[in-house]
Amino acid sequence: MKYINFNNAGSSRPYEGVNKAIKQFLETEEKFGGYYAADKFKKKIDSFYCNLSKLINCEKNEISFLSSTTLAWNLFFNSIKLTDKQNVIIFENEYGSNLIYYIQKGINIRIVKIKEDGKVCFEDLKKKIDKNTKIVCLCHIASQCGDIIEAEKIGKILYKINPKILYVVDACQSIGHINVDVSKINCDVLVGSGRKYLRGPRGTGFIFLNNKIRSKIKPLILDLNNSKLYEKRVKVKNARIFENFEYSPALKIGLSKAIEKLNNIGIERLELDIKKKSLFFRKKIENFKKICLFENKNCISGINTFRVKGMESNKLYDYLLSKKILCSVPYYDTSRIYFKKKKITNLLRISIHHYNTKDEINYLVKCLIDLIKK
Ligand SMILES: Cc1ncc(COP(=O)(O)O)c(C=O)c1O
Repeated sequence: MKYINFNNAGSSRPYEGVNKAIKQFLETEEKFGGYYAADKFKKKIDSFYCNLSKLINCEKNEISFLSSTTLAWNLFFNSIKLTDKQNVIIFENEYGSNLIYYIQKGINIRIVKIKEDGKVCFEDLKKKIDKNTKIVCLCHIASQCGDIIEAEKIGKILYKINPKILYVVDACQSIGHINVDVSKINCDVLVGSGRKYLRGPRGTGFIFLNNKIRSKIKPLILDLNNSKLYEKRVKVKNARIFENFEYSPALKIGLSKAIEKLNNIGIERLELDIKKKSLFFRKKIENFKKICLFENKNCISGINTFRVKGMESNKLYDYLLSKKILCSVPYYDTSRIYFKKKKITNLLRISIHHYNTKDEINYLVKCLIDLIKK
């Protein structure tokens, strides 16, 4: 029996054709060296912008190819000026690495409540925004809780209150998973990773930077790729400003292939199927008193988290691994605000993708029930 991957929120199985596309480039690189190989594959490398812009509905020049969400997010935050007076609004599901940045830099953060039903407390959001609010940063779907947050509604509210507030969306878990349309969300920045629901290779990610705010941003790292050196001054180019000269063409081709495959299936179809499979899984376990699921019915995605009473999540993980089931254990540091609020320190996460079958889910359920009934 093969291993079953229910850790798609960690890293999913790449779409068919992704590794082949990478291999083709690497073989050419072996023959000609990296630069000439990249010349020969220029069309395939550049297809990345075409495929991603189609998926998120933006201009091709608004996207920079990077290696991870964390890098993308940090490049953006380190490329804007925040004064001591200014504040950044975040939500109770904020990701741990982003918190590290705020704490380490002494950023004045305000945390907006997420209600028990999984919805943002919009009164709290409106109350926390003031004239010193520079950025609102949303984690669209959290690593430790699969509730989908209403990104579009937040975008509309921000636009009404003050269109100058920068709206940053961490789409690390939502991209390739649910429909992410930057023009509907009305965000200025959106970051994501390739290895999760996009089903691309590891070591890939991206940032979308709305052309409307391009002039306000001075990228942290400048080189001959994203800027032009004159005698006594430097001019930053207009497009893809977070990209520097060196990158992995093989991985970019791989991610492009994954997004092409995804676009061919259609994100709406994928989203629907993933949600259906989550509901199928949840329905089978929700009546077991020992199982406590944390997502809210009206906000379901492919990420399902729970605890089994009287059982450590790590033990559960080991047990499932012994049954060839891969999952993961988000822990306190994944999101200190969230875990503190829930008064727990860890969870078990089953993250389902389109390619997971009902038979795989049935097998997972059987293994869980066998253990609980013991
Ligand atoms: C919501 C969220 N944001 C950011 C990240 C960081 O992504 P990366 O590891 O690709 O930098 C993760 C990783 O799991 C995540 O779940």
